[in-house]
Amino acid sequence: MSNISFSDREFKRISEIMYQAAGLSFNDSKKSLIQSRLLPRIQRIGAGSFAEYIAMLEDESQAAEFQMAVDLLTTNETYFFREPKHYELLEQELASRKSRAPLAVWSAASSFGDEAYSTAMLLADMQMQGRIGPDWSILATDISHRVLLSAKEAIYPQDRLRAVSPERLRRYCLRGDGDSEGQVLLQDKIRERVQFGRLNLCQPVDGIGPFDVIFLRNVLIYFDVPTKIEVVDRVLATLKPGGLFFLGTAEGRVACKTPLQTVQPGAFRKTA
Ligand SMILES: C[S@@+](CC[C@H](N)C(=O)[O-])C[C@H]1O[C@@H](n2cnc3c(N)ncnc32)[C@H](O)[C@@H]1O
Repeated sequence: MSNISFSDREFKRISEIMYQAAGLSFNDSKKSLIQSRLLPRIQRIGAGSFAEYIAMLEDESQAAEFQMAVDLLTTNETYFFREPKHYELLEQELASRKSRAPLAVWSAASSFGDEAYSTAMLLADMQMQGRIGPDWSILATDISHRVLLSAKEAIYPQDRLRAVSPERLRRYCLRGDGDSEGQVLLQDKIRERVQFGRLNLCQPVDGIGPFDVIFLRNVLIYFDVPTKIEVVDRVLATLKPGGLFFLGTAEGRVACKTPLQTVQPGAFRKTA
């Protein structure tokens, strides 16, 4: 049993820090969640108390520890071709485009890269079939360095690719053997199409876009309503008029200022 206590004041301070720096919103019911996620970390690094840990989170020279806390307080759950209907819509939409103009896609809370690489597999297939031109690229960003490092390595447990067709597995993946049994490495022809970078959605977004397609799926859950609206409008400012915008199907519609038309659950078109 730990004798490290966690006062309401400490809970409030951690909530404030996470809200200001990463937009993460924790109401009073989340006190025990924060405690259970951070306590093992505090013990592992030998900090004597939550107060000591808070001082580390406030210290700009300890950015890596701040990152670690964000990671512990959010989830990076993702898998290939999550919400397949979104990829079906994207395929139909791109197939019906008259032009072979360059195509830019942004996976805006990419986690380990599954969403971005799934899109790359779809676009590589479409290019091979002559349904889109060769000039397409994908930007994948996340607040977490840890997931980005892993995404760049592009090695996954096989189970995460359970929704990838056998043809795509053959075409784009290498199965590990020996020590790497049960793991899959993505081939260079997919990896080289995705560029990864760190980006905090709660800060101004400069120098990227405009995009034809944006995925912002399963990240708004961490934000309160004003932050959701702010983040969605900020992200949509980089989407071309007529472009497709995806949220997690369960996330509903956000009352943003940017005009959107609903295309299917979790899929929207920017109308102006
Ligand atoms: C559940 S994953 C979503 C992955 C993928 N989009 C999907 O739907 O499968 C949520 C991701 O949001 C990231 N995240 C949380 N707050 C963020 C912020 N303020 N800016 C950018 N990314 C953030 C987390 O690091 C995590 O990797």
